[in-house]
Amino acid sequence: MRSKAAWLQKWGAVMPDAGIRAGILGLGTYVPEKILTNEELEKMVDTSDQWIVSRTGIRERRLAGPGQATSDLALEAAGRALADAGLEPGEIDLIIVSTNTPDSLFPAAACIVQDRLGAVNAGAFDLLAGCTGFLYGLSVAQGFVVSGMYKKVLVIGAETLSRIVDWEDRNTCVLFGDGAGAAVVGPVSGGYGLIHTRLGADGSGGQHLCVPAGGSRIPASRETVEQRLHYARMNGREVFKFAVRACGDGSLEALAAAGLTVKDVDFLIPHQANIRIIEAAAKRLELPMEKVLVNVDRFGNTSTASIPMALEEAYSQGRIKDGDNILMAAFGAGLTWAVAIMRWHDYRRKNR
Ligand code: UT7
Repeated sequence: MRSKAAWLQKWGAVMPDAGIRAGILGLGTYVPEKILTNEELEKMVDTSDQWIVSRTGIRERRLAGPGQATSDLALEAAGRALADAGLEPGEIDLIIVSTNTPDSLFPAAACIVQDRLGAVNAGAFDLLAGCTGFLYGLSVAQGFVVSGMYKKVLVIGAETLSRIVDWEDRNTCVLFGDGAGAAVVGPVSGGYGLIHTRLGADGSGGQHLCVPAGGSRIPASRETVEQRLHYARMNGREVFKFAVRACGDGSLEALAAAGLTVKDVDFLIPHQANIRIIEAAAKRLELPMEKVLVNVDRFGNTSTASIPMALEEAYSQGRIKDGDNILMAAFGAGLTWAVAIMRWHDYRRKNR
């Protein structure tokens, strides 16, 4: 009788290789030039630098220029990630753009990136999972890579949140910023790469963070615009509670599932929404803040872009070393949460 492997080979099915994990082979980021400081926001809404810094840790954020859309930011980050990986666009099998702010309802921002990048052999789709989108994208890429179906998946977190923020609502407009981060995900061996990913959702909390109008439930109309229903709305306190729980407990669950403990963690990269959430999660995990990567002070909450931006910055600064265990934790609209644990592969040193 034919072996199962031979049968699968005959019928063109792909055999996963047990020693292969999905790892990051290239990183790239992009932020627009325009900086909006807290002092400038003081002139726009009833707020103060002191309130923003003490309640969120944010000092400034970037804003997309006129005419700059999410796919423009994504394309810049993608080009840099490909250069970092030493790959040509034609070598990419799949492009996932995780975003809450696509250029339009459809087509997907990923298809615009695919075309402008010249990734002629790639499939492309957008992924909507709130600020958790980058980790969801990483997990999807992991599935394709570990199954052997694809070799190079480009995962991009990109946002122009400034376009859906209500600049008259001080509860939200001080929090968000624009930016993009991209990662090329492919097979790695030798114990490197994604050890574990865990995705979670609690859709019952969807109303706590949403854009009410502009979809099929409440289509855009003169009334929805007059009522400002096409802007993001948030119940900050509820999201805050969910975030601390999701990042803290979710991380502990994921570590246990991976057979690791907090002592094995070299760096925590939390979604960058609020320094108080980050500190509370670190405390819950009993991790010192020296092991926590933070960029919320300079970029605000860039949603799906925040984790790849923080990762790329720390790697470029030489903080993250070969073999480091990196714990990434995110939460966001949905409500969703996710945790990814990765053993870092210093691909830049190895590519030299
Ligand atoms: O990526 C996921 C997206 N979202 C988040 O992660 C956000 C999670 N939540 C948060 O980060 C925090 O809840 C906020 C930063 C949004 C708010 O901080 P808070 O400590 O939870 O403040 P609060 O909502 O309890 O509001 C306290 C006060 C309120 O005044 P009253 O009702 O006590 O008189 C607000 O009106 O602060 C007021 N306030 C402000 N004051 C000055 C809210 N925003 C501002 C502001 N400037 N920008």
